[in-house]
Amino acid sequence: MTIPPPVSLAAPPRVHSHADPAALVAACGAELAALTARCVAQGGQCHIALAGGGTPRDLYRSLARPPLAERMPWSALHLYWGDERCVPADHPESNQRMVRETLLDHVPLPAANIHPMPVELPPAAAAARYTATLAAGLPRDAAGRLRFDLVLLGLGSDGHTASLFPPELAQDLHGTPLCRSGTQPQSGQARLSIALELINDARQIWFLVTGAAKVPVVRGILEAAPAARGWPAAWVRPRDGELVWHLDRAAAGSALDLIAPLDR
Ligand code: 6PG
Repeated sequence: MTIPPPVSLAAPPRVHSHADPAALVAACGAELAALTARCVAQGGQCHIALAGGGTPRDLYRSLARPPLAERMPWSALHLYWGDERCVPADHPESNQRMVRETLLDHVPLPAANIHPMPVELPPAAAAARYTATLAAGLPRDAAGRLRFDLVLLGLGSDGHTASLFPPELAQDLHGTPLCRSGTQPQSGQARLSIALELINDARQIWFLVTGAAKVPVVRGILEAAPAARGWPAAWVRPRDGELVWHLDRAAAGSALDLIAPLDR
């Protein structure tokens, strides 16, 4: 299947280049606390899908300590995972373990508001179970679409995001269940990921990207380079939500000329 170019964004993404990872964490933490408070004030709850991997760890840690920990409306916040490695929940590679260690073990989020992917099940059954969890838990808009208030995403240097990897892109573009199982192409590790379509229905989508290794993929996506057509991250195109790139200066790299001066 020849993959068409990603559909154009309803609105251009907001791209922020932060001086360093610590500045990115401080800005994202403050913006996330404000977004959560707005959501709860408007709708009574806030539903966020968390990114895995290494980049968001310090952001999650910052939410678990003052001043943000006191500002977050924990009882009205629901946390989900955007993707998971199919390993036991206490495994060193588990995204669930990472979020529990950096955030959940330190804040008064009710257990009923924590929605980990059920890695105790075989991958296909886990994906089906989480699809049901998402369908039951997420709010629907007037058109009946299930919508996260915020999806946090990391970015792989191969253009993957969540656990949506390039070899499986054609399947993702044709539509999948809300959560699907898949495979990390280098390691063969079984993975779970929320669907591209569900990501694109979110009201806000934030990419959190640090480090010079990500410059080629960041630039390729921001410039809509032809190579980006094979990258799942390039297909993160909110239908009517907002896409925000939070980059540190190292990841922004040569893409700085693409970023509006006020955000440099
Ligand atoms: C995962 C993530 C994955 C990650 C990127 C970036 O479970 O690994 O969801 O998509 O966000 O690989 O990882 P780093 O933040 O560690 O660079």
